[in-house]
This record gives sequence, C-alpha cells and structure tokens, in this order.
Amino acid sequence: MPRPASMASEQSPLLPSKDLASSREDGNTTADKSRRRSRLREAGLFVWALVATGAVIVLAVWAQHGQQTAGHGSRSAKRNLVFMVSDGMGPASLSLTRSYRQFVDGLPEDDTLVLDRHFWGSSRTRSSNSLVTDSAAGATAFACGKKSYNGAISVLPDHEPCGSVLEAAKRAGYMTGLVVTTDITDATPACFASHVLGRQMQDDIALQEIGAGVLGRSVDLMLGGGRCHFLPNTTAGSCRMDDVDVAALAQDEYGWSYADGRAGFDALKGGERVKLPMLGLFAPNDVPFELDRRDMNDVYPSLSEMAQTALRALEKATAGSDKGFFLMIEGSRIDHAGHINDPAAQVHEVLEYDKAFKAVVDFIGQSKTETVLVATSDHETGGLATALQEPGHLPVYNWYPRVLANASASCERLAAALQDYVAHRPSSLSDGDLKAWINHELVVSGLGIPDATDEELALLVKDPEASINTFAAIISLRAHIGWSTHGHSAVDVNIYSSGGPETDMIRGNVENTDVGKFLSHYLDVDVDKITEELKEKMGKTNLEAVEAESTALAWGGEYHIAEERMRF
Ligand SMILES: *[C@@H]1O[C@H](CO)[C@@H](O)[C@H](O)[C@H]1NC(C)=O
Ligand SMILES: *[C@@H]1O[C@H](CO)[C@@H](O)[C@H](O)[C@H]1NC(C)=O
Ligand SMILES: [Zn+2]
Repeated sequence: MPRPASMASEQSPLLPSKDLASSREDGNTTADKSRRRSRLREAGLFVWALVATGAVIVLAVWAQHGQQTAGHGSRSAKRNLVFMVSDGMGPASLSLTRSYRQFVDGLPEDDTLVLDRHFWGSSRTRSSNSLVTDSAAGATAFACGKKSYNGAISVLPDHEPCGSVLEAAKRAGYMTGLVVTTDITDATPACFASHVLGRQMQDDIALQEIGAGVLGRSVDLMLGGGRCHFLPNTTAGSCRMDDVDVAALAQDEYGWSYADGRAGFDALKGGERVKLPMLGLFAPNDVPFELDRRDMNDVYPSLSEMAQTALRALEKATAGSDKGFFLMIEGSRIDHAGHINDPAAQVHEVLEYDKAFKAVVDFIGQSKTETVLVATSDHETGGLATALQEPGHLPVYNWYPRVLANASASCERLAAALQDYVAHRPSSLSDGDLKAWINHELVVSGLGIPDATDEELALLVKDPEASINTFAAIISLRAHIGWSTHGHSAVDVNIYSSGGPETDMIRGNVENTDVGKFLSHYLDVDVDKITEELKEKMGKTNLEAVEAESTALAWGGEYHIAEERMRF
C-alpha cells in the first residue's frame, strides 16, 4: 500500500520537534536527572509517534476507500444486469392480463401480477423519424442510448454504427446473453449484437451475432428461435438468400456449442451443463405462442425456462470472475399477438413474461452478486383497449375474461389449420360442409366461441388467407376487447425494476434513450469507445455496400407497414 506509507511519512512534521523538546529541558539543574528524564521523554515520544503513525495509516486507508466509492455511491465491484423487453406491451396489456388471471384463478380484486409490484415509471418511445417507433429503433435506443430511424439496427440517422451496451460489456469482461421467443436475428436481439441499415438484413445479422462482424464475438449465450437464418439455402428449412451454413460456421470457426431442439435444451440441465459460447435455436422461426406451446411442451422450451437456464449458465460462468453478466430477455411475441389483434394469445404471452420476470426476481433474491433487473417495452402494439362498443349498441361498462378463458388455440394456429385443411380440400366438400367443419373444429373447439354468425363463418370460407384477422375479430368482439390498429402505437409504455443502485435514474417518465443510457451507466461500460472502433473498422466501403443494398428499403417517413405487419 504505497499511499498510506507515503502519507504517514508526510505526517512526521506533526511529531514534537527536537528543538521544542530540548527547550523544555533548559530549566533542569542536575545532568543525570536531566538525562534520565530525557530518556523517559524520548521513550514516551516514541510510543506517541508510533500511535500517531498508526492512526494516520488507518485514516489514510479509510480516506482512500472513501475516494474510490464516492463516484458511484457504494458501488459493488461485481454486478449483473438483466434487461427484459416486453415487445409491444402497453399499459392496457397489464390490465387485460391481471383481470384475466383474477377471473381464471378465482383471485381477489387486489391480486396483481409480479410486474405490477415492481412498477417503476414509464418510457416515451418515439423514434428519430416517427412518433410511432418500430422495434428496431426502439432496441437501438436501449442498446446505444440514442434515437434512430425505424428499421435501424444499432446504426444512427447518419447511417454510422453505434456501439451497444452488450458489446461494451463484453469488452469490459462481462459475460453476455440474449434470450427471445422469436428469431434471434429479429430487431430487438439484433440491436445488441449487430449493426445493419435495415432490420430485414437478417442473413447479415446472423453472421455478426456469431462473431463474424468487425468486433468479433460479443455474445456468449443465445437462446430462442430463428434457426432458418442459420441454415444454408441448399437445406430444407433455410430462409437464407445465400448458401452459408452459419450454424456450422458458428461451431467450427467461433467455438459455439449448438442445440437445435428440446432434447438439446434439456441436456443443458437448467444451465448447469452449458458450455459457452452456446447457441440454442429451438424453432425454425418463432417459438409458438404460449397458448399453443403448452400443448407442445415436448418440442419447444418456454420463455421462463430459457430465462432460468440463461441466468444459471451465466452465474456459473462468472463465478470465478470479478465481473458479472449482462443478459437481455425478450417476451418477443406479446407484439405478435398485438399485430394479429388476438387477445387470448396476448394474455398467455404476458403471463409467461410475468413468470420469467419472477424467475429473475427470485434469482436476484438468492444471488450473492449485486444484480439489477430493468424491464420495459419498446412500444405498444395494436392500440389495445379493454373496452369495445359493439356497432349499433350503446357502450357497456365491462369486458369479458371468460371469453378469452374459453379459447384453447391462438388465431395464428387456427388460421394455419384452416389453410392446411383448405389446401387438401377434397373436391366433393361443399362450401356448406366446409363452413360446418370450420365452425365445429376451429371456432367452437379452438376459439371457444359457440355463437359465430353466418356472416363470420362465410367470411372464413371465402377468404382463408385473411382468416387470422377474422378469428381475431370474432373473439375480440365477444370479449369486448378493442383494437385501433394492426401496427404499433405511440402510447408511453411501463418500466419495471427490482430497484437497486442508481435505478433512480429511470424513475418517473423518461425517454427510451434514458433507459439505454442507464444500462451502460450501471455496468460502467463505454459504448462510445465501441462506436469509434466500429466506425474505424466498418469503414466507408462496407457502409457503401450496405447502403446500396438498402436503397430498396423505404426508411424515409413511412416505414413499410406491410412488411412490418407480415414479419412483425
Ligand atoms: C443459394 O445461394 C447461392 C449463393 O450463396 C446463390 O448463388 C444461389 O442462387 C442460391 N440459391 C437459391 C435457391 O436461392
Ligand atoms: C366454451 O367452449 C366450448 C367448446 O370448447 C363451448 O361448448 C362452450 O359453449 C363455450 N363456453 C362459452 C361460455 O363460451
Ligand atoms: Zn411489432
């Protein structure tokens, strides 16, 4: 400890000086007496000096400690940060799901979701080029702490890349993870580990995510869907434009462990047996809606299962480190249920998200490492209202959870079943027969609606391609759930947190970029340094190439709603 020692030596002038001591001796008459007293005094002074020096050292060490911690309150050296995104979940989704759960489980009116008990504030969501954001601009705000245009994957309005909190965390020695229920190349996860001008460039995003970008590998753990982006176009089940086998490249060149199904997930033993880096792609595209997945639990893991596995894996991997981990967990398909306007699918997505949130809260409760959980949405989807005035009727002050409780399949699943049935329709099957089949097999059995009108059923027979919207309208009308759009809305979204050091920064009503800035602040990492490195390494040629490719993308005022709707 050089500092206390030097400070102690600086303190020696504090000791009584020889001059002062000898001047006191001037009044003594006998030399012997004087010598004895002098020796006694010297011994006394020595002890005093010893005690004083000791006290000074203690003070100095204490002062230095104070200096180290002053900048960050009582900052722990080791920290974990879990950031959860409920894509497309606005405030009405909470009211919807809370009341639904009270109804189904017979709970009292003051029973709340786990999320409700961690309400923290709200976030304003607009993007740089629109009052209504998409998930790409939303996640760029979280990852970089900066506003960008709809469609941007961690690049700014000047088309320059911006460093993400995950990339900065990795560079600082943290372990990192992404958990989603949609494609791992979709906008939200993409913004944490890649930089492209348009969210459609998922072939490129997949490559950057495994480590083939200019920064090398930043992610240690990826669990979710979207396997098709990792398979070459020569393979059945691929959705790549090229013949790059990204899954093989990940394993051979970048050292990833790979799992592509339920058996592979189960072998991870809840995170106890994870060899990082770990890539787990458990669905060709989306993991099915929780409402449907419940019947396919042997095929697909749930969001909360994946979240728990990731938490344990990262906790284990950082056990011997002085740095913790950063984990992003997304309830990706709340948004999809909103796009479809399917309220039954949505309540089950939000319930599962709430379960995953609780899993993180429980993790924090047992973790020896300081851990903060922050959860928010990128935007609201659907313009959801827990009220609906039926055409030609007066307003009714109620909505009906029992209607949603009677549904056993999502509109997505029912539409797929109808399209499949029609594709194999025998020529002998009349429209009347088809209508009866639809009513019995899909509307009554699946949607749980016993009183579909003839017009509604006729519409399903006439236009199976649009049936997903028809099913959604049938159940929403019965439940008195309203929707104003199949797209996103500009309403402020909620922020939730476990609380903890510095989380007051995002109390109250804040900008989505404030949430992003908090993430890198809490981890004490430098995203600007990553930005500089990206600019340097991505270079002009690289950007020109992507820019040429992106001229086809309409990223001006109107982000192409049709595509956003198809791909959410
Ligand atoms: C597959 O990718 C290769 C380039 O990697 C391309 O030449 C070929 O046309 C693609 N095939 C299909 C069917 O898209
Ligand atoms: C619930 O669905 C079943 C079919 O699964 C149907 O017979 C019943 O009438 C429905 N109940 C209500 C209240 O809609
Ligand atoms: Zn969306």
